[in-house]
Amino acid sequence: MKEIAGIRPMRLWSRSAKSRGKTIALVPTMGFLHEGHLSLLRRARKEADAVVMSIFVNPLQFGPREDFGTYPRDIKRDRTLARREGCDVLFVPSARQMYPKDFLTKVSVEGLQDTLCGASRPGHFTGVCTVVLKLVNIVEPHTVLFGQKDAQQAVILKRMLKDLNVDVRVIVCPTLRERDGLALSSRNRYLSTRERESALAISQSLFAARKLIRGGERSADRIRRMIRNTLSRNGISRVDYVAVVDARELVPLSTIRGDVLIAVAARVGGARLIDNIRVRV
Ligand code: PAJ
Repeated sequence: MKEIAGIRPMRLWSRSAKSRGKTIALVPTMGFLHEGHLSLLRRARKEADAVVMSIFVNPLQFGPREDFGTYPRDIKRDRTLARREGCDVLFVPSARQMYPKDFLTKVSVEGLQDTLCGASRPGHFTGVCTVVLKLVNIVEPHTVLFGQKDAQQAVILKRMLKDLNVDVRVIVCPTLRERDGLALSSRNRYLSTRERESALAISQSLFAARKLIRGGERSADRIRRMIRNTLSRNGISRVDYVAVVDARELVPLSTIRGDVLIAVAARVGGARLIDNIRVRV
């Protein structure tokens, strides 16, 4: 596995691989890798000849009172894990290179970025879109992979790449979970044993929602209420949102119909956790 820190060397590596007829897949991450990230890597290997994983804790997507400074980092461990999964290039640019002093341009996807997580994290998705467009422009992959775990992020990035005619195929991979249902996240490490236990209510309430819908429930309101009750019974009181929305446009639904996204964001201890499921009716 090669490790590349510079933007120009990264671009040259990609161009050389492409000139030899190789296809490239890019997996953007912020590191502190877990099985969820690795599942994206594995899928990327199936989809392309060469796999680039970027690790960059993107300052632009953290709010002033968020966890940029304390976001978990372990590049040594990440290196070992990425190599073991057959990653060809680990791209680890510095913030100074990505955002030089005279940097001015940002990319926003209007509307989609103001709801759900965007409502409580102003500027977050602008930061995400900007860095992902930069990474795609640097690596020039044929395919880029994202996780369904960050459902709104995947919807927004897909739309940004389509709207801006970026010639890249997008694959959204399923959410990887612990055996008990908890969605894997780098932020799970903020949880104490007790907090982890109550955090389980998030995935469990989503699974219960899916079961109700499969059993014929069509009221989005009743689903939202059931989820809120389950969370509160398990000691989760700081709920950011419980949303039942159209999976593509992210607009709230009153009747459950079509491709539906049910998404939750809540604070458990010091962690802000998100999870979601998609149901087709
Ligand atoms: P990060 O949180 O490190 O996640 C990197 C990728 O892994 C994202 O596409 C995310 O959706 C996916 N992922 C995280 N947990 C997952 C899980 N349990 N199952 C499947 N996929 C999972 O998301 C970001 O970084 C950043 O916002 C980024 C896109 C890299 C831009 O900075």
